[in-house]
Order: sequence, then C-alpha cells, then structure tokens
Amino acid sequence: MTLDHVASPTMQAYVYRRYGGPDVVELADVPKPVPRANEVLVRIKATTVTSGDWRVRTLCVPKGLVLVARLAFGITRPRQPIMGSELAGTIEAIGKDVTRFRVGDDVFGFPGGAMGCHAQYRAMAEDGGLARKPANLSFEESASLSFGGSTSLHFLRKADIKAGDKVLVVGASGGVGSAMVQLAKHFGAEVTGVASTANLALVASLGADRVIDYTRQDFASQGGSYDIVVDTVGATSFARGKNVLRDGGRLLAVAAGMPEMLAVLWAPLTGSRRVIAGPAEERPADVRQLAELAESGALKPVIDRRYRFAQMADAHAYVETGRKRGSVVVSVEHPR
Ligand SMILES: NC(=O)c1ccc[n+]([C@@H]2O[C@H](COP(=O)([O-])OP(=O)(O)OC[C@H]3O[C@@H](n4cnc5c(N)ncnc54)[C@H](OP(=O)(O)O)[C@@H]3O)[C@@H](O)[C@H]2O)c1
Repeated sequence: MTLDHVASPTMQAYVYRRYGGPDVVELADVPKPVPRANEVLVRIKATTVTSGDWRVRTLCVPKGLVLVARLAFGITRPRQPIMGSELAGTIEAIGKDVTRFRVGDDVFGFPGGAMGCHAQYRAMAEDGGLARKPANLSFEESASLSFGGSTSLHFLRKADIKAGDKVLVVGASGGVGSAMVQLAKHFGAEVTGVASTANLALVASLGADRVIDYTRQDFASQGGSYDIVVDTVGATSFARGKNVLRDGGRLLAVAAGMPEMLAVLWAPLTGSRRVIAGPAEERPADVRQLAELAESGALKPVIDRRYRFAQMADAHAYVETGRKRGSVVVSVEHPR
C-alpha cells in the first residue's frame, strides 16, 4: 500500500452546510486538525452553545445587519461549517515552536468568531485565546467563561468603568449578563440587574445590589441616574436608555442593531451621553484575565443546562428559546 492509500485521521464534529433551525446541524467525520508550529492540539472535553451560535446558524441578527452577517459568515451558506466559540480540554500535541504549553496541560480557549469548537479536537495558536484551566473549575465551567466574560470585559473597558459607578444591566440572567453583573461588581460598581421573576434570585446571588423584575416594572419609568446602562437584550433604544443615564453616561448596546450603531455617531452631537456598540474585540489577554478572575473567585460561571455530544441539536433548540440562564454546556465524548 502506498501512502496515498493511508486514510488521514478523522474526528467527529457537528457541521452545518446551510442556515436554518437546529436540524441543520449534523454529526460528521472530518479531518482531525494537525497543529502548526505555533499551535497546540486540544482534545476537547467540553464546549458550549451560545447565542452567537444561534445567530450564525439562523442568520437571525439584530435589525439592519443581515447583509453584514452574510458577508461575515458566508453569503449563501456558512463559510465555517463547525460552530462553537468556546472549549475546554487537554493538550494532546504541540507544534515544534510552542513554549508556553505542554502535552497534558488542561486548558480552556476562546477562538470566538473563528469557531470550530463543536468537535472532538481543535488546534489553537499558543498565543491566541488560550489559558490554563483554573484549578478550581471543572472543564464544563471553564468552557463557559469566555463568551460572556470577554464580551463583558470589552464593553466595560470601552465604558471606562470606575469604582462607585452606578450600572444597570438589562438581561442580567443571560450568558453575557451573568458575567457583566459579576465583573461590574469586581470593578467596584453598584449594580442593578433587570431580569424576569424566576431569575431575580440568581441575579442577586451574582452580587447585584438591586434587582428589577421586568415583568412587573419598566426600568425606564423607575427613574434613576446611572453612569452605565448595559443592554444585553436589545430592549433599550438610546431614546429610552438615556432617560435613566446621567450626563456623560454610556449606553452599552451589546445586542445592537443598525439604529444603535447609528446612535453611536449621532448621540455625541445631541448631548453628553454616549452609545457604545459593535462586535466585542477578542483579545487573548482577556482570556488570561478571565482565568485569573475565575481562580480568585471573582467570576463564577453560571451553567443552566448540560447536554451530551449526541444531544447537540437539543442544546441548539434550547439556546434558540432566548431564555437560558448563563451558559449551555455540551460535554464532548471520545469513544475511540
Ligand atoms: N456585541 C457583541 O460582540 C456580542 C457578544 C456576545 C453576545 N452578543 C449579543 O448579546 C445578546 C445576549 O447574549 P446572551 O448570550 O447573554 O443571551 P442569552 O444567554 O440567551 O440570554 C438572554 C437572557 O435575557 C433574558 N431576557 C429576555 N428578555 C429580557 C428582557 N426584556 N429584559 C431582561 N432580560 C431579558 C432571558 O431570560 P428571561 O427570558 O427569563 O427573562 C435570558 O436569561 C445576544 O443578542 C447576542 O447576540 C453580542
């Protein structure tokens, strides 16, 4: 037999070839990645299904952004067939130039928009969004740190959060909101969380000083004078949010559509309040900071449901409800 006939190693991964519902996700055998000189190969033990996976699977994106989304993710069909932006696992192999990690290290990683984590293996650059797994967290918890965590770090940094700031988080129970509440508290803010009745206790347990039940009270009619209003839901236009922002306050439109993107430009022309919107930067340094914050106990991942690898479509269907609390985790089995 010549080398041409030796099958290259494969792995199992969930792929999608067209945009649509949870049923477009199919289990397939695909080539197992081979790490380049500066990369490590992670044997994935846990991954997540996030609101980002739901958006790239359905192209259900905020108002006015469908064309942008098609340009980013594939005009007629997905360019990256394997979703999943977060992983945790163990390093199985390293490239020849890798110095920061060794085979056998437990790590978590955030390829972010490059995705590719709904698989048994993923190669990651050693200086990419990769950090040692916090010793006090499980693989499932570590896999849940980055999506909400790095989004929150990005927006709070852009807002120049300071100790003593009054912060309102709308959607405080979600993947982003649950990290936002904890990180805003860590930076010394006084935090009010907006959530549904069933999630008020969770948000208080994350450290919120006050909670507002949006099913009973409209935060915008409550008055208030916040330094920062974070909207992770897309429920707050600038016109609405500015009623509760003090002079110089910032609206962080995490789930911004075109109207909020435009408000980034015109809000400064109309007064001292600002809108901050757009995709969060994906910085390797943030992933390392999240590891430290988790290790110190300042950031505790919230896990809603856990699924097995075989139940990936069920995990997608649950995330699509838009009602999850924190993260949805999928454990990745390696039967062979
Ligand atoms: N800009 C960026 O780079 C970036 C990065 C990450 C995520 N995002 C976007 O941020 C958004 C949130 O993501 P996520 O992962 O946190 O979503 P998620 O985990 O699905 O969370 C949504 C949460 O919001 C709650 N909620 C729904 N309606 C609400 C309302 N009117 N007021 C308050 N809470 C409400 C839901 O619980 P109940 O229904 O029980 O209230 C749920 O817990 C998504 O649109 C995502 O695309 C943007």
